[in-house]
Amino acid sequence: VTESDPILVIGATGMLGRPVVTSLYNQGKAIRALSRSRSDATARLPQGIEIVEGDIRDPHSLAVALKGCRAVHINLRATRRDEFISVEVDGVRAIVAAAEKAGIARLSYLSAAGIESADPKLLPVQAKQLAEAAIMSSSVPYTIFRATHFMESLDLFVRGKKAVIIGQQPIPFHYLAAKDYARMVTRALNTAEAVNQAFTILGPEPFTMREALKKYITIARPDLSLTSLPLWFFKLLSRLTGKADMLHVATLFDAFRQIPEAGNTEPANRILGAPDTRLEDWCKERRPRI
Ligand SMILES: NC(=O)c1ccc[n+]([C@@H]2O[C@H](COP(=O)([O-])OP(=O)(O)OC[C@H]3O[C@@H](n4cnc5c(N)ncnc54)[C@H](OP(=O)(O)O)[C@@H]3O)[C@@H](O)[C@H]2O)c1
Repeated sequence: VTESDPILVIGATGMLGRPVVTSLYNQGKAIRALSRSRSDATARLPQGIEIVEGDIRDPHSLAVALKGCRAVHINLRATRRDEFISVEVDGVRAIVAAAEKAGIARLSYLSAAGIESADPKLLPVQAKQLAEAAIMSSSVPYTIFRATHFMESLDLFVRGKKAVIIGQQPIPFHYLAAKDYARMVTRALNTAEAVNQAFTILGPEPFTMREALKKYITIARPDLSLTSLPLWFFKLLSRLTGKADMLHVATLFDAFRQIPEAGNTEPANRILGAPDTRLEDWCKERRPRI
């Protein structure tokens, strides 16, 4: 394994995979992306990224993607309830097994803040805990990023001309900018001190979801109005309509209100440099240009 061997990014096309690809790319690293759709990945990623079409549920495509790589970064998300186990857990287990076989020197993984002390009866918690356990018990040197809520996720609350909060969401989160996280991933891949660490990554200031969305609307999207739906109503609606994506969203919001941030940010901030993008400044960058 040499420094010039590529880094494989699984989930490179994702909302939180793309900033990592961009950061690594800007550092001059050779990058390979695994995606289920070559055309989609080509359209979404910078030119010069090698794309391998494949699926983590197909061991052959995983082996092909990992061949000759020095490191792998995992950015996976379930999009339906049943995928918490089939994609986030079984997928990570398959990647770990293939990485061991391929002699990969470093593996990094995006988990979530508070996971280590949250209730495993919550499916999103269970999935991240099992995925982390598979990584920690492997022989591949790893870095786990237990990142809090991302500023980028505020875009996902938008439905038409509304920003919709589901359920009472009273917990404050230190919203994190994806570019800060991506810089930390890039640094971790080249830092010996980051090996076999599970880092807690939080942004500089705490906000409840409502406070964060209010700021986002005021500064970046004044065309939106803020509204909230009771969780029980949204769950009922998702059951009645039988929509898998709605049920998935209900599962996530139910978890968000029960997973406070935990852990100590000191090791990550010292070794990788603390995230410093403030929500206000991030929102200003999103302001529509007139
Ligand atoms: N949003 C937040 O505030 C936040 C906070 C902390 C942690 N997280 C965690 O961040 C992770 C990533 O989120 P995201 O927003 O980047 O998700 P995303 O935009 O949905 O991206 C998910 C990626 O997974 C890949 N993928 C899914 N199934 C796959 C399969 N079978 N084979 C290969 N690739 C597959 C997709 O690649 P292709 O479609 O190209 O195949 C896609 O690039 C999630 O686990 C989430 O829990 C999010």
